[in-house]
Amino acid sequence: MEVSRIATRALIVALVVIVSAAVSATAKANDEGGSLCGMSQDELLECKPAVATGSAAPPPPSGACCAALGHANLTCFCSFKNNKYLPMFGINSTRAMELPSKCDPNQTAHC
Ligand SMILES: *[C@@H]1O[C@H](CO)[C@@H](O)[C@H](O)[C@H]1NC(C)=O
Ligand SMILES: *[C@@H]1O[C@H](CO)[C@@H](O)[C@H](O)[C@H]1NC(C)=O
Ligand SMILES: *[C@@H]1O[C@H](CO)[C@@H](O)[C@H](O)[C@H]1NC(C)=O
Repeated sequence: MEVSRIATRALIVALVVIVSAAVSATAKANDEGGSLCGMSQDELLECKPAVATGSAAPPPPSGACCAALGHANLTCFCSFKNNKYLPMFGINSTRAMELPSKCDPNQTAHC
């Protein structure tokens, strides 16, 4: 279902954000001319503020972030689902899971 697919993207995007950060030094870590799973690093970074850790409520995802979620390669992103490095990179996985629902209130998370 499209609903679950989009929802899954949210968590995965957060994962990819950190993966992207981790590999940025090598730059060519993935396909499509520097993009990762169909999203450019700029697009990934658009989503990062909305999933950052911290006591304060994060800002809502930008339109660019939500748009990027819509064209990301879910199959690819799902391979990062069990990545354990989110907290290390300042990503709150709870907020990551909430990301799709913030773009679309009807979305729920499932990979
Ligand atoms: C993660 O986000 C949730 C929901 O916003 C929040 O309750 C929790 O305190 C956050 N945890 C950290 C470590 O930022
Ligand atoms: C999405 O990513 C998967 C895994 O990397 C790949 O096998 C698949 O061909 C990709 N799909 C598209 C439409 O790019
Ligand atoms: C969410 O789902 C309800 C019921 O199907 C629908 O009326 C509403 O328009 C949907 N909202 C969005 C933002 O898609």
